[in-house]
Amino acid sequence: MRNRITVIGAGHVGETVAFNCARLELGDVILLDILEGIPQGKALDSFESSPIFGFDSQVLGTNDYADTANSDVVVMTAGLARKPGMSRDDLFYKNVEIVEACIRSATAVSPDAVIIMVTNPLDAMCEVARRVSGFPRERVIGMAGILDSARMRSFIALELGVSVENTHAFVLGGHGDTMVPLARFSTVAGVPITKLMTEERVQAIIERTRKGGGEIVSLLKTGSAYYAPGLAVAEMVEAIVKNKHKILPCAAYLEGEYGMTDTFVGVPIQLGRKGMEKIVEIELTDEEKAALESSAAAVRELIAMIPATVG
Ligand code: NAI
Ligand code: 2OP
Repeated sequence: MRNRITVIGAGHVGETVAFNCARLELGDVILLDILEGIPQGKALDSFESSPIFGFDSQVLGTNDYADTANSDVVVMTAGLARKPGMSRDDLFYKNVEIVEACIRSATAVSPDAVIIMVTNPLDAMCEVARRVSGFPRERVIGMAGILDSARMRSFIALELGVSVENTHAFVLGGHGDTMVPLARFSTVAGVPITKLMTEERVQAIIERTRKGGGEIVSLLKTGSAYYAPGLAVAEMVEAIVKNKHKILPCAAYLEGEYGMTDTFVGVPIQLGRKGMEKIVEIELTDEEKAALESSAAAVRELIAMIPATVG
């Protein structure tokens, strides 16, 4: 039997996740949205590409959670983007409401799924999903670090004129301006970038990585990134359904690791069939540790805004 992968939200990110999971034959994909016709149309279009790509995954579009029952993985991308006149706080509370409703409905019919959160603000929405689902932390994980690291890798490859395949980058912390790109662990063919370019260029790459999401928004004007985010999610789904034990930077709920408790923050984790198998602790310098703590403090401020009624 094939794996079942539910993607909630058939917007830009959701459709990209669904298409890539199908194309990579990670399982049958169920694409759900509140809008009628949109998930059905996008699913059918994806499925009709299967003879060309040569994949046998089914892609179903729906508005009914019953169709998502017994999913192995639930990817949550539904949410609102900020509209004119809407404050960040308005957006926050609206997305809390959406995440609460969607995760409650999805987990009621897929109680054993691994949840991958995408909706922003990412780290706080992971906490909403954790509280609402009641799932152990191993099965509620957020996507951000793979995307942020991919952006940093792209910028390193551009700067040095090397293949992206030779690059590796490590970005920890919350998904926002406080994220912590670690130059020391970012390498080209195993050599730290600090040995390959000036400190000024390293800092420029770090700054561009931190603002990577905003750079795309300022170009698109009416939306945010979806190709790289969609593929980043597919990499997580693949690690889970193929039980790869792959180490990837993801948002995870800390219970003492890195000296922090009761908060989601981006750290390296090992991903396999059951979700998060372990959090990988790397030794940080005092400066890196302080940056990670300050990033986690920014996440905690948002988590504190989650209404007590959630969960
Ligand atoms: P989009 O606006 O294209 O799609 C959102 C979809 O959610 C829409 O189709 C909408 O109808 C649906 N939706 C809204 N309420 C719903 C509900 N109650 N039930 C089911 N579906 C519902 O947005 P896009 O570009 O796909 O982004 C989705 C989310 O992902 C946003 O919050 C965005 O900020 C976030 N994001 C996070 C990234 C990360 O690194 N964690 C990267 C890129 C986007
Ligand atoms: C990004 O980083 C908007 O979180 C999204 O592109």
